[in-house]
Amino acid sequence: MDFWAMVAHESDSGIVLTKERVSEDFLPPAAVTIKVHYSSANYKDALAITPGGGVVRKYPIVPGIDITGEVVTSEDDDFTPGDLVVAHGYDIGVAQHGGFAEYARVPAEWVVKLDGLSTRDAAIIGTAGFTAALSVQTLLDRELTPETGAILVTGATGGVGSVAIDILSGLGFEVVASTGKSDAADRLADIGANEVIGRLPEDPDAKPRPLGRTRWAGAVDSVGGASLAHVLSVIGYGGTVAAGGLTGGTALPTTVMPFILRGVALIGIDSVALPIEKRRALWTRLANEFRPSHLSTLENFAPITEAEPVLRSLQNGTHSGRTIFGVAGEF
Ligand SMILES: NC(=O)c1ccc[n+]([C@@H]2O[C@H](COP(=O)([O-])OP(=O)(O)OC[C@H]3O[C@@H](n4cnc5c(N)ncnc54)[C@H](OP(=O)(O)O)[C@@H]3O)[C@@H](O)[C@H]2O)c1
Repeated sequence: MDFWAMVAHESDSGIVLTKERVSEDFLPPAAVTIKVHYSSANYKDALAITPGGGVVRKYPIVPGIDITGEVVTSEDDDFTPGDLVVAHGYDIGVAQHGGFAEYARVPAEWVVKLDGLSTRDAAIIGTAGFTAALSVQTLLDRELTPETGAILVTGATGGVGSVAIDILSGLGFEVVASTGKSDAADRLADIGANEVIGRLPEDPDAKPRPLGRTRWAGAVDSVGGASLAHVLSVIGYGGTVAAGGLTGGTALPTTVMPFILRGVALIGIDSVALPIEKRRALWTRLANEFRPSHLSTLENFAPITEAEPVLRSLQNGTHSGRTIFGVAGEF
């Protein structure tokens, strides 16, 4: 079997993504072979084609941390041909070939059977939306409810941010969206934001204060850096911040004050190594009570052969929402 793939190669002049015809032995040995319907654009995919991006362990690689599609063969009894599935996280798209190819092959214990979501819906949600759901679940586990107060979402127009807004609003939370895009207010209101504010801190040159006037009960943060430090300083007593991203930087210039004087909890969110049973349970929630109601508003579509400019736009911060890449029939 020969098939089409977008393959990232590293060279002295950078990383290039090229359309190539590859043979079946290009795929790693593993139990489940998937005909890929869709992949999507995640920040990590942008890093995979960026020199020094730090996520890919070995080139050449087929990027694409999200795979949605149909099982074609399985050596594992839990899956049969025709099953609609999603697979993401673990080594997918960083140490093993990912979703930017007509076929992918992964271990059965990385695969989630879809129940109630189409492969297109699952791709719109993707790793970014799954991370948003994990963040929301974390806030609920910490007993935040619509009655305990408003939730801040940073990086609001991004994949994690926009799906978090959609899920939180569907659960009845008041949602405050923080964005750097001055023209995004209407779009964010359409997916459920009650209030739209700029990036934080409002004055990036002001001397950071260990504690400020409390503003929100909790936050879903995909930005990190000085923004996250500021958010921690204004979360209310007993509040929770679910932190999963680094678009604003990796350093966290904070103090212990929010933790020891307000009992604020900073909880790290990792979608990559999450054990499969928890992953499958959260996808079930995503098809039910966490189901985002604005998937078609969030969705942009591009054929996989046009992945590169979309990924560049994620990297330079101009992208909004969730772009899915059509794979089957799009090479
Ligand atoms: N922990 C995990 O398992 C996990 C999983 C998925 C993603 N992530 C991380 O979460 C982050 C978001 O991922 P994504 O896929 O949602 O990316 P994305 O779609 O590119 O969204 C990132 C958003 O961050 C904001 N932003 C960009 N540059 C910024 C800057 N310099 N300062 C402040 N904000 C900036 C922008 O939103 P506005 O313009 O609206 O402000 C942008 O749309 C990334 O760091 C990614 O690596 C982590």
